[in-house]
Amino acid sequence: EPIRLADYRPPVCEFEEISLDFVLDPDVTTVTSRLKVKTRSGAPETLALDGRELTLKSIKIDDRPLGRDEFQVDREHLTLIDVPSTCLIEIVTTIAPRLNSALMGLYLSNGIYCTQCEAEGFRRITYFLDRPDVMTRYKVRIEADLASCPVLLSNGNPVGGGKLANGRHFALWEDPFRKPAYLFALVAGDLACLEDHHVTRSGRRVALKLYADSAAIDQCAHAMDSLKRSMRWDEDAYGLEYDLDLFQIVGVGDFNFGAMENKGLNIFNTSALLARTDTSTDGDFQQVERIVAHEYFHNWSGDRVTCRDWFQLTLKEGLTVFRDQQFSSDMHSAAVKRIADVMLLRETQFAEDAGPLAHPIRPESYVEINNFYTRTVYEKGAEVVRMLHTLLGAELFRKGIDLYFARHDGSAVTCEDFVQAMADVSGRDLRRFMRWYSQAGTPEVRVTREFDSSTGSLTLEFTQSTPPTPGQQAKLPLHIPIRVGLVGRDGQALPLQLAGENAKGETARVLELTEERQSFTFVGLDAAPVPSILRGFSAPVRLRSDLTKDDLLHLLKHDEDAFNRWEAAQSLAAEAIVQAIRMSPQRQPVPDADLIQAYSRLLEGSIEQDHAFVARTLSLPGRSFIAQQLSVIDVDAMHRVFKTFQETIGRELEAPLLAAYRSMARIDDGSTRTAAMAARTLKNAALAYLVIGQPAKFEPLAVSQYRQSSMMTDRLSALRILAEIDGAAGASLLEDFYGRWQNEPLVVNKWFALQAGIEDYKSPERVEALMQHPAFTLANPNRVRALLGTFSMANLIGFHREDGAGYRLLADKVIELDSKNAQVAARLLTTFGRWRRFDLHRQQMMKSQLERILAVPGLSRDSYEIASKSLG
Ligand code: ARG
Ligand code: ZN
Repeated sequence: EPIRLADYRPPVCEFEEISLDFVLDPDVTTVTSRLKVKTRSGAPETLALDGRELTLKSIKIDDRPLGRDEFQVDREHLTLIDVPSTCLIEIVTTIAPRLNSALMGLYLSNGIYCTQCEAEGFRRITYFLDRPDVMTRYKVRIEADLASCPVLLSNGNPVGGGKLANGRHFALWEDPFRKPAYLFALVAGDLACLEDHHVTRSGRRVALKLYADSAAIDQCAHAMDSLKRSMRWDEDAYGLEYDLDLFQIVGVGDFNFGAMENKGLNIFNTSALLARTDTSTDGDFQQVERIVAHEYFHNWSGDRVTCRDWFQLTLKEGLTVFRDQQFSSDMHSAAVKRIADVMLLRETQFAEDAGPLAHPIRPESYVEINNFYTRTVYEKGAEVVRMLHTLLGAELFRKGIDLYFARHDGSAVTCEDFVQAMADVSGRDLRRFMRWYSQAGTPEVRVTREFDSSTGSLTLEFTQSTPPTPGQQAKLPLHIPIRVGLVGRDGQALPLQLAGENAKGETARVLELTEERQSFTFVGLDAAPVPSILRGFSAPVRLRSDLTKDDLLHLLKHDEDAFNRWEAAQSLAAEAIVQAIRMSPQRQPVPDADLIQAYSRLLEGSIEQDHAFVARTLSLPGRSFIAQQLSVIDVDAMHRVFKTFQETIGRELEAPLLAAYRSMARIDDGSTRTAAMAARTLKNAALAYLVIGQPAKFEPLAVSQYRQSSMMTDRLSALRILAEIDGAAGASLLEDFYGRWQNEPLVVNKWFALQAGIEDYKSPERVEALMQHPAFTLANPNRVRALLGTFSMANLIGFHREDGAGYRLLADKVIELDSKNAQVAARLLTTFGRWRRFDLHRQQMMKSQLERILAVPGLSRDSYEIASKSLG
């Protein structure tokens, strides 16, 4: 049943060209496909075309209709026997977009026809060799009703169109670039358009068109601005220009994930496209900017050079995530961006890597490829690319990228091809590095130090090991770049000199681990410095060091590496929290005085600093990061400890928090400039601490912020904290919020998510009640994620309530959703995979829900794979 990387075979034939004709209708859309076929052997071949949920009307080869005995059709294929070595195949099928609830292939979203073909959606449109190494030139004709579908779009360039009888019209599109079927796109509907243009650095003018529902078109300006900056950035940073005269983006409300990089016609979830300060938070603005950039960057890393097969997914995704990270870090604060990315990696990818669904960034087998669009393939994949950047340095890395694109433009390649280009430009041996592609699990790096005062030398001894993961018991040592520095006793950054070198060098350098155990000796030191290790998080590993609390406080104060200053604060807080959880409930958990004092210093110094950095550094580590450090997750103790820590910090730091709140409010000019967003981040972090610390005293401050601000960031932060403390104002303001924004679907999602995330023991009932709300529907993935995704992933004590109500609720909905939209159902189901991390009672309950799901007749491949692997 699983598909294996080792079984890869090239396709039996090529399609030089495809002409696709769509006659659109919600219930019966007719698709005529004409394929110019050439077999690779030059001899007749049997051809098994992929197809799912298609109604076959007719087949012709070279204009001759085939009889019933000349082909076979089953649930997944159309098999043609003895296809001539060169011929023209014409296939007519019908599909029903209105009934398509899987949102793969051609479907309707609020009356707009749109497509999603990655990974294997094209086969729900017509019979085809639906695999990324089959690259074809596309000619498309779209015919539809003129009144309901005035806009008809596909990839490439518009080359004609006109009116037809009966109120219909048509449009013709041609894409000059060969592409795999997963990059095909079609959109038709009544859409408003925002237009602009970009002049490339070689002087070509590219028309930019952004399409959305007319009610939302005034929320597209930020996406357009982000697109223009992305185009410029890719030219400046990588010398990569856009290659067509037209670039289009369409936003639709029903979409299985964020967005899709179809050639010349990106299709976006509105949640990744729309932004206006009264309806979207600063986080949304940054997310829109990032995703617009990500999809645009795919034009080269994905479209021009694509993947040979789906096992290579990280080839395009890891690289493109790395590129979008670089872009965001150039646009805003590099330190804050790195911190955010590392938090995400550690909270989600590390958890995945430690669970039953662990897989290498290039998996070796899968049942359903949709299950492999994971944090591992994307985010860890980006870390692997980043390590190449660290090992080679910026200049050689850029040369490697240039070579990769020059060598492979227009083809479908593998991860080896990418790393080979890096090896060729640098002359480096990257064979051991390749293990990152095949080995799953998060490596653990331990480091101990020894200072010899008689010789003035510091020896760092490193060991590395990777815990076993399902199907991979034995692990090999990896090639791990460790960026280090040494911080002197009075805080200065020391120039580094390794034993054997004859002079002091820079204050930071990269050590390379390739063996299980290695040591490095720094010489020329007067006194024992504090080592700053894994600066910038130079490798996706768990670092265990022998740094003491005093060392960490020293780093927090003095390290020139901002990431490691933040990391020091996180380690101090994490240590204190984990200790408090272990001794709870015998003793009242309190954060220690040194940590509070460090926070206080940070707040006082915050006027001159990067305010978003201060806010991040003052924030307690995420729940999931802490949970990973516990042998058994005690949800009640965790909840108690986090709450007490927040209360204590809020009370003890009242004065500096309030001062920060006020000064940030003055800096905040209501714009979305980086500095204003940073000020709001710190302002709202301070507000949360103040209100949690002294609810009665500071509730009015939150209420007035909610009432007076016109910005969603401020409103939502205030509302969240008010709802959480469950005071006098929370309930009525929640109602006020819904009343104001009930016609903005994306804001209604926030309203659902906010309530699903309120951590208390009543939340299963609250979520149950919200599912009865008229605005709730299982048909919209964003709404499902807002309510059920938030509840199951971000509401520890509610979801894991000890009577199992949360588990039952989620399983009920997964089962209901599975037959409609398997991809979204399977995604929701992944939380159950964490069952081994809880106490026996909860383990039993989670397992029995997984078993219940597995027993559902006709369960999708998607959910089957997740549930069965989760049970292990
Ligand atoms: N390629 C898209 C992106 O990363 C995501 C496609 C996700 N597809 C899926 N089947 N989950 O931009
Ligand atoms: Zn992507």
